[in-house]
Amino acid sequence: MLDNGIRDFAIDLAQRAGDLLLGIRERGLNQETIRQKLGHFDIVTEADLASERFILSELHAAFPHYGIISEETNQRFSDAEWVWIVDPLDGTTNFSHGLPIYGVNIALAHNGCPILGVTFEPVNNRTYWAVRGQGAWRREANTETRLHVSGINELRAAVLATGFQYARTDAGRVRYTEFAILDSLSQSVRRLGAASMTMAWVASGNLEAYWESGLKPWDFAPGWVMVEEAGGLLTQYDGEPANLASTTLIISNGQPAIREAIERTIADAAARIAAGTPTEVGHA
Ligand code: IPD
Ligand code: CA
Ligand code: CA
Repeated sequence: MLDNGIRDFAIDLAQRAGDLLLGIRERGLNQETIRQKLGHFDIVTEADLASERFILSELHAAFPHYGIISEETNQRFSDAEWVWIVDPLDGTTNFSHGLPIYGVNIALAHNGCPILGVTFEPVNNRTYWAVRGQGAWRREANTETRLHVSGINELRAAVLATGFQYARTDAGRVRYTEFAILDSLSQSVRRLGAASMTMAWVASGNLEAYWESGLKPWDFAPGWVMVEEAGGLLTQYDGEPANLASTTLIISNGQPAIREAIERTIADAAARIAAGTPTEVGHA
């Protein structure tokens, strides 16, 4: 059983990092500090770095013997028994354009399995948190609300979300095909630009499912605990259960009709692209 003190520490830390991000937005992001990583589509700002410096220094001070994986400085897997997993600003592109969909992600893994997940949404001052065995929750003002995935069990009534990893490779054509097919079969597909918030919304029942390849542990570790504690499911595109090294994920409300349709479409899209077969898209 995880100590409530550790949970509260992580919640407070994510909130303080989020306040730091809001402060940077309020005074204006210094455009000169924006750097490209893989290309013009993958950026890091002064805000990512300041938030990460702050979170890591607090974690090092309070938990000197725990491992840390973080997006901007420590991407290598740690084999420590307890490992913090940190994305100091998830949704950097949204943040840098003043769009409100971004979050701070902090998770704690025990022997490779995340057991605590926290996502703080600065713009709305909402904290999403989950501990294995204790449910998933949204904290807003002084109210705590338990999260449950949606019960929608047919694709035609589902709103889905996806994302496009930063690598711009040929495989991109497969992703656009998946997008086109699922957009025509579901109520709609969103591309929200922040894995953290997208997973919080699957856990909250606003979205039925989210699929993306190329996510990293700091993107999905907190949401993993949240979605499962809210009654949902994480599987890889091949149907296997998720792990921290998973490079493909279907994050769903657990309804077989929805998860299986996404799994099938992804496999079909890859087969069509490989065979050079045109994709027919239309409402069934
Ligand atoms: C990204 C966002 C985006 C997702 C990318 C992530 P970042 O994280 O979550 O929605 O599509 O795969 O890398 O770079 O903004 O922290
Ligand atoms: Ca991220
Ligand atoms: Ca990030």
